[in-house]
Amino acid sequence: MDNLIPAPLRIGANTPGEGFLPDRSTTLTAQPGTETTERWLRAALGAAFGLPLDPPRPGTKDAGNTVELCLDPALGPESYRLVVAPGTGVRITGGDSAGVFWGAQTLRQLLGAEAYRRAPVASGPRRSVPFVEIEDGPRFAWRGLMLDVARHFMRKDDVLRYLDLLAAHKLNVFHFHLTDDQGWRVEIKRHPRLTETASWRARTKYGHRASELWDETPHGGFYTQDDIREIVAYAAERHIRVVPEIDIPGHSQAAISAYPELGNTDVIDTSSLSVWDTWGINPNVLAPTDNTLRFFEGVFEELLDLFPAATSPFIHIGGDECPKDQWKASAAAQARIAELGLRDEEELQSWFIRHFDTWLTARGRRLIGWDEILEGGLADGAAISSWRGYAGGIAAAEAGHDVVMCPEQQVYLDHRQDGGADEPMPIGYVRTLEDVYRFEPVPPGLSEEAARHIIGTQANAWAEVMQNRARVDYQVFPRLAALAEVAWSRLPAPEERDFAGFERRMEAHYARLDALGVDYRPPGGPLPWQRRPGILGRPIEGPPPNV
Ligand code: ACM
Repeated sequence: MDNLIPAPLRIGANTPGEGFLPDRSTTLTAQPGTETTERWLRAALGAAFGLPLDPPRPGTKDAGNTVELCLDPALGPESYRLVVAPGTGVRITGGDSAGVFWGAQTLRQLLGAEAYRRAPVASGPRRSVPFVEIEDGPRFAWRGLMLDVARHFMRKDDVLRYLDLLAAHKLNVFHFHLTDDQGWRVEIKRHPRLTETASWRARTKYGHRASELWDETPHGGFYTQDDIREIVAYAAERHIRVVPEIDIPGHSQAAISAYPELGNTDVIDTSSLSVWDTWGINPNVLAPTDNTLRFFEGVFEELLDLFPAATSPFIHIGGDECPKDQWKASAAAQARIAELGLRDEEELQSWFIRHFDTWLTARGRRLIGWDEILEGGLADGAAISSWRGYAGGIAAAEAGHDVVMCPEQQVYLDHRQDGGADEPMPIGYVRTLEDVYRFEPVPPGLSEEAARHIIGTQANAWAEVMQNRARVDYQVFPRLAALAEVAWSRLPAPEERDFAGFERRMEAHYARLDALGVDYRPPGGPLPWQRRPGILGRPIEGPPPNV
């Protein structure tokens, strides 16, 4: 009870007594509208403890040995009340079906680390749930993690596992970075070469780009359309929204290598391009032609079918790091600028983004992009992922746009989490667990009105130096637990946060992560097999600037 992560809003007085110990005759009663949690509880807790959690037999009284799931809209979105009392068992009441689900996540934490296993290690739970009353609900509606499955492919099973990890931390947004220079990861039936050729590369830079090492093993993979449907449905069962990202007009070399006409053919021979095998900002960007627009409208048409509006209201179009050199050198791009009456290449990028903004809005979706898309002015409904610092997010919020705060100086989990020499392939700033715990998504000085546009926060995990699931786990955990508390809990100002208390609760949480099989970074530093001696990273020295 005193080791919940993220910390709940209110924990009532503990009623004395032994608490509630579920057993084979414990029943599970689910009011209509709570079926996702009913299914999840049976699958997760039922498996962990070997309990059937049967529905009550009609006409029988449950005699207080029950887990009951109810709805009370008065509690508000994603909020819940969890009551464990003598003679009544456990009752979880949600403001909506998501609230019930988050309440069930709290129940799982109360049952101890064994509740995170997939089969029983003892006959039933070893620990009873204390008699308690918890009231809880999130600070932010958007609580997310971005995984970069383009730089290194993450197989479908590992994505599903990450959705379980998000759910365990009451995170509700999975930002799915599906395309980049180094690989295209989603099947698009009308453009088959995106997966036939653009989904794999012949070799890969091992380490940061200054490293002289290459991994000569071909690397790649992609999700079929049914894989995507499965991922989306799995997320929806866990009240997680998926935000797919197709990164345009930069970060597009993989697509251009498969369809050379998408590139600036009057500047370079795009048919000579292959899927990029190293890291950095890539000069090969999309050509601003009608053909490119139609091609990506086709991509997005299939994407909207795969990611339904109910669970993917936002579609991410990237928009970051698009060098303008090729557009400057391209007679065709310059003619386009003149024809559209634009001032320069920056405005050409805005025109490109606005085209898809209008296109998505007409289809009932909202565009979200990295903060570069703000530069040429945005359509009303568009939202921003503020990554280059707070500034883009502040400007967007002041202009009335919704903002997800994810500044690279604070919550880029690919950045190293310690200054020690043992960190594997260390890149970026040192961002410790405590740094993430003290991250504040709403910068001081925002007007109340603008602050309301900060709809939440997410951590981003770029995968240039994360070759596999264990490396991703190492970078993401334990810091994602801190981010989850920042996003969910009502924490005081950064300097007043009780990090020592959080660390104490983390002791119990490490046991949960152990039971789940998460390769987190231990508090004492990397284990021998987590180190990558001699593999060059790109650490940035000194504290991150105030931005
Ligand atoms: C980004 O990190 N380029 C969004």
